[in-house]
Parts: sequence; structure tokens; C-alpha cells
Amino acid sequence: MATDTPYTLAGVMGWPVAHSRSPAIHGHWIRHYGLNGHYVLLPVQPERIADAVRGLPALGFAGCNITIPHKVAAMALVDRIDPLAARIGAINTVVVDKDGRLSGYNTDAYGFIQSLLDAQPDWRADAGPVTVLGAGGAARAILVALAERGAREIRLCNRSPDKAQALAAEFGGPIRAYPWEQREDALEGAALLVNTTSLGMKGQEPLEISLERLPRHALVCDIIYVPLETPLLAAARERGNATVNGLGMLLNQARPAFQHWFGVLPEVTPELRRMVEDTIG
Ligand code: ATR
Repeated sequence: MATDTPYTLAGVMGWPVAHSRSPAIHGHWIRHYGLNGHYVLLPVQPERIADAVRGLPALGFAGCNITIPHKVAAMALVDRIDPLAARIGAINTVVVDKDGRLSGYNTDAYGFIQSLLDAQPDWRADAGPVTVLGAGGAARAILVALAERGAREIRLCNRSPDKAQALAAEFGGPIRAYPWEQREDALEGAALLVNTTSLGMKGQEPLEISLERLPRHALVCDIIYVPLETPLLAAARERGNATVNGLGMLLNQARPAFQHWFGVLPEVTPELRRMVEDTIG
């Protein structure tokens, strides 16, 4: 560790947050780039989020990540909001600016797109229709990311139809809401399928969907990373579709956040990926 470089403190605010992989990721980069600093877990209950976020400058933090369940609430607590984060309607990164004021960013959209590009460097959002399952917090960043990258048709399916309709109305553009019961119809001719629901996560039910109507050239992405291969990804792989799990989004969303605080845009290396995979098993 370099002692002649300034000490930088960052962390992740969430509740619960004990299982976050972010300290492992950022800690790896702090060591790898020979920086002087720490990235710590910040367990903050929802009713204390305002005190915690506003307390960052006093505690000497360069900033922090914001995770579940604070991503929307924290947006109202910062002094400046990056335009992309404002469009998404949530922040996952807070930066303490030189003047002591707080800026909010959302790096999830970047992380999602970069995870697709890592898997398929020639991936394009306008390659064909995109089917997105789920309309929760994670879907917001993904929908904005896809629309900004030029997706021409986004079919949004959610169990609660009002949430999909509300997002389609809010974001407009290429997004059309589909009933959950029609999720298999929504696979017809799709170039990309993204699962943003919690179905398939460890301890949850699997996502019930037949991939029969999905073209074999379609890319299938699940933003879940525990397990690394969800039943959806296993089914996609078995029929020959290329797949992307949620680890790439997790690793890549951390890059611009780290850059904001530490001044270095870090790399996602195979070594880092393996280290985090080992914590998942
Ligand atoms: P996140 O921030 O991870 O997106 P969230 O905002 O709680 O989490 O959203 C979870 C998503 O998973 C929602 O789209 C939810 O559907 P509803 O809007 O109908 O709640 C979806 N989801 C969770 N359990 C589900 C289930 N059993 N069947 C279908 N969708 C489910």
C-alpha cells in the first residue's frame, strides 16, 4: 500500500448489505493499483438513510455505493443528480465533491451494457427486438440503457401489468408493455432476452418460460449472479443460445464508481472475475 498517496474512503450503503461482493471488488482494485484507501460495508436502516448519506462528508468519505433498498430514496438526498441517473430515477453512486456537496450517479446502465459487450464485442442494441422481463428497480436502468443505445423495440413483460405500463408511459420511445401471460409470444424474433426479475435467484422459484420461440442467435442475459447459471441460462445454453450472467453487470457497474473516488478507471480482469466467482461457488 502506498502511504504517500492520499487516503480515500468509500463503501456501500444497503440493508442488509453483509453479503455484498463490492468490498471484495473495490478492495482488489485498491491493492492492484497500489492505492491508499478502504472500501467498507455500511449497513444503514431505511429510516436512517438521510443521516447516513448527509454524514458522508463529515466522516471523510469520498463517496459510496447505494444499494437495495436505498437507490430511489438516496436520490432525494444529494445536491446534484447526473442527467442519466435522473432519467433512470435512481442512484447507485454518491460522490462527495470538492466543495463538500453530494453528487448522485447511476452506473448500473453502463455496467449492464458493458457486460453484454464483454460477452459479445459486436453486440448492438438495434440488432432486433429486445424482451425484458420485470419492471422493478433494476429494470429501470436496463430500459434506459437499451433505449439510449438505440434499441428500436423493447417488449416489457411484468407480473404486475400496471408497473410495466407505467414504465412504458414514463420512458416512452421503443418500450411496449406486454402481459406476463404473453412472455413467450414476446420472444418471437427477439435478438436479446433479459431477466430482471428475482425468479431463478438462489432460494427463489425458477422463471417459468419456454424458449421455443426465441431465435437461436438471440443473446440471453440474466442479471442474477447467485447462482452464476440460473435455470433460464442453463436452458438457453442447452439449446445453443449465447448467455450472459449478472456477474459482468456487477463488476462493470463498479468501474466508473471506483474512478469517481479513486481517479483510476479499473479493469475487469479474469483474475478479479474468478475471485468473485469463488465467493459464489
Ligand atoms: P429489483 O430492484 O431487483 O428490480 P424489485 O424492484 O423488487 O427488485 O423488482 C422485482 C421484479 O421481480 C419485479 O418486476 C417483480 O414483479 P412485480 O412487479 O409483479 O412484483 C418480479 N417478480 C418477483 N417475484 C415474481 C414472481 N413470483 N413472478 C413474476 N415476477 C416476479
